[in-house]
Amino acid sequence: MNHIFQEGSDRSKPTLLLLHGTGGTERDLLPLAKEIDPEANVLSVRGNVLENGMPRFFKRLAEGVFDEEDLVLRTKELYDFLDEAADRYDFDRNNIVAVGYSNGANIAGSLLFHYQDALKAAILHHPMVPRRGVELPDLSTKHVFIAAGKNDPICPSQESEELQSLLENAGANVVLHWENMGHQLTYSEVQAASTWYKKID
Ligand code: MLT
Repeated sequence: MNHIFQEGSDRSKPTLLLLHGTGGTERDLLPLAKEIDPEANVLSVRGNVLENGMPRFFKRLAEGVFDEEDLVLRTKELYDFLDEAADRYDFDRNNIVAVGYSNGANIAGSLLFHYQDALKAAILHHPMVPRRGVELPDLSTKHVFIAAGKNDPICPSQESEELQSLLENAGANVVLHWENMGHQLTYSEVQAASTWYKKID
């Protein structure tokens, strides 16, 4: 997968896995990594699917209607890429914290829904429920921060609450942070994510 890897100054820190929104690239979220943990490794990945020329992490049939078959395939592709990248760059595969926005948050959510050992923690900015009707793995050691907008037309507030409860029912420790804005990524939610990150170990 197209990506950028930046080695951090402290090898005991996690690797931040950056996952952009629809139409973005692996460069978009680099400033967030600096805000969250300037000493951590950064692995920023570009989605392999193109929708009218816009990179994404999996296909969709319509706005908010995901192509489940492609979602499952692309989730595995990203999961396998994480194994390869950990070998290639020699970072701890068990210490990856995803930071995703919108479509990138949805593939990060899908990694959590499908694999017990994909991520140590995840910061999900404006995510949706990636799939319904599936049994989640045991997520009891996982920490998840969800940032949602009260007026987000793409992710209604009930959807953020449903995602929180699905993850909590699988044992994850979840914080749901609300902004009064829409779907945009705000500086204040990034700061809230950064404060939360400093409290998880
Ligand atoms: C998605 O397709 O993942 C969501 O609708 C968010 C987005 O617009 O990318």
